[in-house]
Amino acid sequence: MKNIRDSINKVIFVIGVSGCGKSTIGKLLAEELEIPFFDGDDFHPKVNIIKMSSGQPLTDADRQGWLETLNELAKTQLAKSSCVIVCSALKETYRNTLSLGIESATKWVFLNGTFNQIYNRVNKRPNHFMPSELLQSQFDTLEEPKDAIKIDISLTPEDIIKTLKENLMDKSEFGLFGLGVMGKSLCRNLANNGFKISMFNRHVTGVEENVAKDFKAQYSELSKAEAYDEISAFVNSLQTPRKIMLMVNAGKTIDYVIEDLLPHLSGNDIIIDGGNSNYVKTKERCNYLKTKGIHFIGTGVSGGEEGALKGPSIMPSGDPEAYKNVQPFLEKIAAKDQNNLPCCTYVGPEGSGHFIKMVHNGVEYVEMQLLAEVATILQALGQDPNDIANTLESWKDAANSYLLEITTVIFRKKDGNDWLVNKILDKAGNKGTGNWATIASAELGVPSTLISSALFSRYISFYKDERIELSDNFDKVDASELNLTTTEILEAYQFARIINHYQGFKLIAEASDKFSWNLNLSEIARIWTNGCIIRSTLMTDLVDVFKSTSNILTNSDLIKVVKHNKQATKKVVSECVINDLAIPALSEALQFFNGITTLYASANIIQAQRDYFGAHTYQRLDDNSGKSFHTNWI
Ligand code: 6PG
Repeated sequence: MKNIRDSINKVIFVIGVSGCGKSTIGKLLAEELEIPFFDGDDFHPKVNIIKMSSGQPLTDADRQGWLETLNELAKTQLAKSSCVIVCSALKETYRNTLSLGIESATKWVFLNGTFNQIYNRVNKRPNHFMPSELLQSQFDTLEEPKDAIKIDISLTPEDIIKTLKENLMDKSEFGLFGLGVMGKSLCRNLANNGFKISMFNRHVTGVEENVAKDFKAQYSELSKAEAYDEISAFVNSLQTPRKIMLMVNAGKTIDYVIEDLLPHLSGNDIIIDGGNSNYVKTKERCNYLKTKGIHFIGTGVSGGEEGALKGPSIMPSGDPEAYKNVQPFLEKIAAKDQNNLPCCTYVGPEGSGHFIKMVHNGVEYVEMQLLAEVATILQALGQDPNDIANTLESWKDAANSYLLEITTVIFRKKDGNDWLVNKILDKAGNKGTGNWATIASAELGVPSTLISSALFSRYISFYKDERIELSDNFDKVDASELNLTTTEILEAYQFARIINHYQGFKLIAEASDKFSWNLNLSEIARIWTNGCIIRSTLMTDLVDVFKSTSNILTNSDLIKVVKHNKQATKKVVSECVINDLAIPALSEALQFFNGITTLYASANIIQAQRDYFGAHTYQRLDDNSGKSFHTNWI
């Protein structure tokens, strides 16, 4: 096994409140690793010592110079060898000073115990007494480090040293399982952010051989990464608690991989599923792994190959304590929002991260479908792909989004003398998330009509042969009479997008209530403002909108936009209907809007019919008691 002295020099700060055992553990660790030990308290300037011995607490200003001295000490030592420095370092600002300029060579060991544990322990020591107020003030000051090796002080010193040694022996901090397109990009992203990672890809003779090794050899940023195709070696290369992110196909494969990993894992290890898994399955896996003492974090990851490499939007959920262990990694590699905050947040319990990713994809389906419909209308107005690209480009000020931008690029792409888009077979695929979003909506009783419309449009497209046959049986589309301006189309597009976002967030809000997830809609919108496929200026606006309402159609600014754009939407939809253009999502947006804003719906008639043939009963508008009525209709 490699010794810490053979690897890159590190400064190991052992930190925690007074009485947690810092000096004992720090000294033992330094002895074990055969590196110098320093007690931070020995470096206080005289003024501080005088102040402390007279019983006065130090202020942050008193501490500043001392922390800078320790930072200098660490830097000087690093030039020669690794070292251990003990120091309470309770606040993040203190730790920032201690590690200034040597962040990547700094390791934090946080000795964690409860108030009672430490109080009893200190006051058992001969000639020691620490008043409970003093200890309490330390706990009040403590800001738990996110990126530390957290040690439970109830373990024996031998066990603590063993765990620390393992963690510090240059073992990898994070494991990535599955080197498909997304897995590879995430590996490079982690390595580019300075993390020591282990990468695994299975060995399938003649099909997948040396995938991890070949990938490592391809990119210089992976020079310190470790490559494996053997599970036990991969798992053993990781610091405990292990953090293993699965980037494999959603579905049964996840369960197979979990079973393959389980015999090699130890208690408190964390498996992160970064695929587009079904949220119900994620909950089942959380519960199953809990029985094995393993944590499971289900996380949505959006942004495709490029996003995964440069910064995706990340939607993790599960046990909040386990999340703290993976938070520094996920937040670091995530895209940043306009305030430079990571587009990654702890979403909520169970499968809530995968649920919101599923809805994200549903909203994505609709945004894509709306652009496809808009392009159909523009084409019917005589625009060629280049004209369509120009029109979409001109909408950027009013309606910018990632999908608008890529669609513009798509329409400009030539293939020989023609545009590539004209040569692509008109059958849309899907991998299941739109399907699940539709099923979840139906199960929760939420009318996500646009998601189902966009999904079913893909399904209709898939019946290519039948479409060819039926198109012969009926009149061909003739849109020569279409009378629309591009401004009207833009306004209809914007109208439908607002309804799409209304429905998507409604689905999330209803699931949150039903499952008691307590989801924060504004925060969800925020992590979708960058990195993900549905990032847009509208999404950025929604971050604020959701701070005061969970229903975007109650926001006064959006009410104005919707009211203004409705007129154009009616014209676009009716012109398309008259001219036989298929625009299911645009027209559904209008139909849904009319439905959800109707004071008296036609559902009274449905209730009467149900009562007629099935005695299902009905309630009356003129009776508020909730009583059920039945009528003998004949
Ligand atoms: C993303 C995408 C991504 C993927 C979808 C596509 O957020 O990065 O949504 O997850 O592109 O799986 O789904 P379909 O194949 O169903 O269109």
